[in-house]
Amino acid sequence: MAKQGVGITITQHILNQQRQKPEATGGFTTLLYELIVAAKVISREVNKAGLADILGSTGKINIQDEQVQKLDVFSDQIIIERMQHIGQLCCMGSEEDADLIDIPSKYPKGNYIIVFDPLDGSSNIDVNVSIGTIFGIYKKKSSETDIDLLMNDVLQPGLSQVAAGYFIYGSSTMMVYTTGEGTGVHGFTLYPSVGEFLLSHENIRIPERGKIYSVNEGNHDYWDEKTLALMDYFKTTDKESGRPYTSRYIGSLVADFHRNLLKGGIFMYPADNKDPKKPSGKLRLMVEANPLALVIKEAGGYASDGHGPILDIEPKELHQRVPLYIGSKEDVELAERFISGKI
Ligand code: AHG
Ligand code: MN
Ligand code: MN
Repeated sequence: MAKQGVGITITQHILNQQRQKPEATGGFTTLLYELIVAAKVISREVNKAGLADILGSTGKINIQDEQVQKLDVFSDQIIIERMQHIGQLCCMGSEEDADLIDIPSKYPKGNYIIVFDPLDGSSNIDVNVSIGTIFGIYKKKSSETDIDLLMNDVLQPGLSQVAAGYFIYGSSTMMVYTTGEGTGVHGFTLYPSVGEFLLSHENIRIPERGKIYSVNEGNHDYWDEKTLALMDYFKTTDKESGRPYTSRYIGSLVADFHRNLLKGGIFMYPADNKDPKKPSGKLRLMVEANPLALVIKEAGGYASDGHGPILDIEPKELHQRVPLYIGSKEDVELAERFISGKI
């Protein structure tokens, strides 16, 4: 008999999660619903990017000292517009905005905080390669409401996230998220004909060890000895330990991460001395490393800065960068032994 209905929608899944929490008010559910609307709009723009004048750069440089693509700005604005009116947030933090984003006074404030990378993988926008949106959600700790006094509430360790995940705009559009605390990682695929995200990857688990290493080898000359030794390890033939690993690097963190989440492997963006302004490498703790670190932990993997868990780092600044080793637990623990000098 043909399968009836559409299966489990993201709405059903979120409501099921809400029902597990007697204290839930539905505010978090509202927040996720509107975030999903923003992602659907971004997905539509990404998928028609080649046809509209939405490609290319704005000619501006952002706080990250990077060329701002039109889709970066568009995605940032869509998320802010969808999030600011729901009455669940006290503020937002975006990769594209130097300071915290306040909630306009005409809207009520709430107790959640969302930090996000509105569009990850910008360099791939014009060449039709998968890109994504990354988000992390925290609960405010203080009773502050003034935007100038909320930074302490934002700069919480990644382990404090009440939810984290990403959207990937690729051959299909997917949402992958977790609400932490052992609730697992679940993937939903957007069915354009229905306009809904439907459960397609329930309780994703990453293999304990992979066969893929993912790093930009072009940074080779800027790595220290320990990093070079680690990369050599993955490239050296040793049948017994299943080496060499296969090299895969897309240049969109979300795409490289998603492949490794499903197949196993390790993604690395090590510290390098390429740019004195960025000694800890390129990736951002709050809007890239922390959200993905919670997802990978809930999927049975691990995320490290080379010396310890990403999720334990006490953030100092909204846009601080961090070396990132993330993926299969055994591979990341091995990387940590190399980088911290135990091998
Ligand atoms: P963003 O587009 O949000 O700035 O992120 C780009 C990041 C990440 O997606 C990717 O892993 C990394 O930049 C690639 O950097 P390199 O080009 O230096 O390898
Ligand atoms: Mn990014
Ligand atoms: Mn970005």
